[in-house]
Amino acid sequence: MGADKIEQLIGQMTLTEKLGQMSMLAASLVVTGPVGPGDPVTLVREGRVGGILNTWGYDEIREAQRVALEETRLKIPLYFSVDVLHGHRTIYPIPLAEACAFDRDLWLRTAAESADEATRDGIHMTFAPMLDVCRDPRWGRICECAGEDAYVNAEYARAKVTGFQNTNDDPHRRLAGVAKHFVAYGAVTAGRDYAEVDISRRALHEVYLPPFKAAVDAGVMGVMPSFTDVAGIAMTAHRGLLHDLLRVKWGFKGVIISDYNAIGELIAHGVAQDMVEAAVLALKAGIDIDMMSGAYEQGLPVALERGLVTMQEIDTAVRRILHMKGAMGLFENPLRGLQQEMPGPDTIPSHRTSARDAARRSLVLIKNEDNLLPVANDVRRIAIIGPLADAQSEMMGPWCMAGDEHQAIGILQGLRESLRAQEITHVPGSGIDDAADPSEIAKAVAAAQASELVVLCLGENRQHTGEAASRTLPRPFACQMELAKAIFETGKPVLLILATSRPWILPDWMVSAPRAILIALFGGTEAGRAIGDVVAGDYNPSGRLCISWPYRTGQIPVHYGMRGTGRPHDPNNGFSTNFLDAPIGPRWGFGDGLSYSQFELGEAYVSKPTIGADESVDVSIDITNGGARAGEATLFMFTHDPVALATRPLLELKDFRKAELAPGQRATVTFRLHASQLHYPDFNMEPRLDNGRINIFVGASARRADQKCVTIEVQQTA
Ligand code: BGC
Repeated sequence: MGADKIEQLIGQMTLTEKLGQMSMLAASLVVTGPVGPGDPVTLVREGRVGGILNTWGYDEIREAQRVALEETRLKIPLYFSVDVLHGHRTIYPIPLAEACAFDRDLWLRTAAESADEATRDGIHMTFAPMLDVCRDPRWGRICECAGEDAYVNAEYARAKVTGFQNTNDDPHRRLAGVAKHFVAYGAVTAGRDYAEVDISRRALHEVYLPPFKAAVDAGVMGVMPSFTDVAGIAMTAHRGLLHDLLRVKWGFKGVIISDYNAIGELIAHGVAQDMVEAAVLALKAGIDIDMMSGAYEQGLPVALERGLVTMQEIDTAVRRILHMKGAMGLFENPLRGLQQEMPGPDTIPSHRTSARDAARRSLVLIKNEDNLLPVANDVRRIAIIGPLADAQSEMMGPWCMAGDEHQAIGILQGLRESLRAQEITHVPGSGIDDAADPSEIAKAVAAAQASELVVLCLGENRQHTGEAASRTLPRPFACQMELAKAIFETGKPVLLILATSRPWILPDWMVSAPRAILIALFGGTEAGRAIGDVVAGDYNPSGRLCISWPYRTGQIPVHYGMRGTGRPHDPNNGFSTNFLDAPIGPRWGFGDGLSYSQFELGEAYVSKPTIGADESVDVSIDITNGGARAGEATLFMFTHDPVALATRPLLELKDFRKAELAPGQRATVTFRLHASQLHYPDFNMEPRLDNGRINIFVGASARRADQKCVTIEVQQTA
């Protein structure tokens, strides 16, 4: 529908109909917020709803759309949205896992496949990607983001938005993305969900905003502000960030959608007295769509009467919503893409294959003493122990509403399929978070003693993760610790598989006792087979951590991008930054992860020693696969600016690349570094580039020991 038609339509609309377009209501297929779903179809009939969340499927979508088209005065089609966060019916690894693949093509592909499935099920919009950089494993929602680094989240944003919105050839298979939660939700105090966010302007501009800027530059159709405040201003009412920055400075043209009930919650935030004030604040800040609070419907008529808002402001929001519906193609084809047959891993086998590939690329092998993995041919008897061994539904992780847990493959099944020559016994040994049961532990110990190798599967259940799932001690539950101790005491070689949604704070003994440790953040529908592929050696592990695993909770936040201090860490100097009771860095850090191949790096070199303001330099390194197996290496390029106006992080990621190498093969990996990538915010948060030396570190992880250094000089002509 063209702009003129949209204006004509707006001209015909009553205030109720306009406010209806600005309201999104939940159906009851799944519940994702505290305010219960009503009967949206009755309200659709009354012209009081513009879009529906939390429903999908042929009959539901067709009926709701029929009511909108046949029983309302203006016949404006509805749009339907769901949180398609890591898959729709085929479930891919949780974002924190998939980010460990450091693979932009993969991120894009799984988004495009999710869009394909969701649109067949009648969905037009997903509340994804989630782009809240997070350095705090206490926060349950850490599993929804792409880890601790701003650049990785920005690259992930670009890939996901493009995959959802622009990749599938058939326009009916494209899904509108909504970048959320704008902004800095990942910095909630103490990792406590919904808590206050109190961060510096520098952190906002350097860490939390860039992924959203990337999503906007990629053309994302929607943005959702976070529930929280930022330094005392509730994001749902934050005109400075939503209007001045997002809309005016960045030029964002899409819709801004409140989070679930968030406009009404401005009252509990203590910044609005009633629904009228709440609605005024949100509309003035730039929010077009009220998800589930009813504040626009209740408050805006009164606000209009009192002259607190204008009809033009309401029309602006309605115009954006109708343009969005136009861009979705709903006016021409309100049932666009809807299919009667159910999409998913059973009906679209290529998605199942793709999910297996995604899941195995997301696994991180973090310890492999004496090459315990892959399992040697002469190991005959394997005991698979632990509450996560046979827990197919947990593998799906949070936010997988349309995913069918019965189609998911648990670890036990995956290992049974891949280790066909071995004799496998299975004993759970404990529940996930029940009281420990000595008789169950005794059975597990007996099975371990009768085996040559134990695979111990510990982890969380999916209710422990995601929204409203903060924990002060993100670590194994007591029953699992007791089980692990008893198993380690048998002295049998143990492969520990950690099936969690976030970094765990592990006791030291739990890291030293097992011979191998595989970090298997929830991997989705094909999680078990992916684990089987790595354990049996059918896939050479290639995942690297996108998030640090601290030694102790008291270290949080700990991440690779800490800024330098005037008293840098020095083990020989008591007056240097330090902990008395824990190391300064994490147990496992950004980029850590092993392969069955051994990669050797040559020295890094640059194409020229200096760069000007608009120039680039090529940074290259030779890499050789010195192992006996083909494998995929991940290389990171970091920089450090040793003398700047503001204190700088000791390392800043600028790029990452994968290199696939046959045994003995040598390749050159080249990164292009543009001077604009060396900008940093000055004291007014405007980009600044200084003349002088820049250190470039290229290597396998954020550990200095894994890196090669080369320097360049920035020389800007006056
Ligand atoms: C979450 C959002 C989600 C929305 C709709 C809220 O509780 O914070 O991330 O998109 O519900 O399900």
